[in-house]
Amino acid sequence: MANIIDGKMLAQKVKDELKEKVANFKREFGRDITLAVILVGENPASQVYVKNKIKATEYVGMKSLSFYLPENATEEQVSDTVKQLAEDKSVDGILVQLPLPKHLDENKILNLIPANKDVDGFLAENVGNLMLGQPCTVACTPFGVLKMLQSENIEMSGKNAVVIGRSNIVGKPMAMLLLKENCTVTICHSKTKNLKEVCKNADILVAAIGRPKFVTRDMVKDGATVIDVGINRTENGLVGDVDYENVKEIASYITPVPGGVGPMTIAMLLENTYLCAVRNVK
Ligand code: GUN
Repeated sequence: MANIIDGKMLAQKVKDELKEKVANFKREFGRDITLAVILVGENPASQVYVKNKIKATEYVGMKSLSFYLPENATEEQVSDTVKQLAEDKSVDGILVQLPLPKHLDENKILNLIPANKDVDGFLAENVGNLMLGQPCTVACTPFGVLKMLQSENIEMSGKNAVVIGRSNIVGKPMAMLLLKENCTVTICHSKTKNLKEVCKNADILVAAIGRPKFVTRDMVKDGATVIDVGINRTENGLVGDVDYENVKEIASYITPVPGGVGPMTIAMLLENTYLCAVRNVK
């Protein structure tokens, strides 16, 4: 029976530690740390994420600025909002909630965020520096997963890590972080052959596919650590990418959904905002 990695509890710990660091920052530098969040349109999931991000920002004592633009906002309107925040010295981090409505060019808009305010770690400069092993902002979800592995002292060096999913936001940066920890890393995707055999070889298995209960017990090695990044809305509520009930019988560590990686993503966004503020003030 697996140990359950409680992301909710760890996220709370990260936020409580941040609360103190934010207060110290304010004392030392005499100003607030500010995160600006831009939401375009009315995607219900995005609305929930943004609401939770703002709530958490305020919990740790940071200031939040929110900008809600209509679904039919023009590229110029969104760009102008980002540009204005990019120039504002009192703003430490800028987050444009994705996905943007289809008529907007996501890349073009994200590229208006200066790399030192890119709290999502999405920009080429941050992604490139992650690859080079240079200081950078790491995308919140993989950063949160790393923190979860470290919190349980799970050995990574020399272990086989398999990441299912090759997204820019999760799969690719996750693989880079695991490589930095000296794992032997395999990235799997929809065209991977013998997926089951590859997964079965993993000491650390990270599922970031976006398909409910995709990872079944027969794909998991006895004693593996299984990290579930999936958040799938189904008729039966939120379901991860891992068949949790069956996989937890043979894994040594597993993350639940909800209450696993999800809360960590928000906690690491705040950590990233704090790190941006500290870097920019020095
Ligand atoms: N949409 C889904 N996840 C994320 C995220 O981590 N950051 C942003 N900006 N948008 C998202």
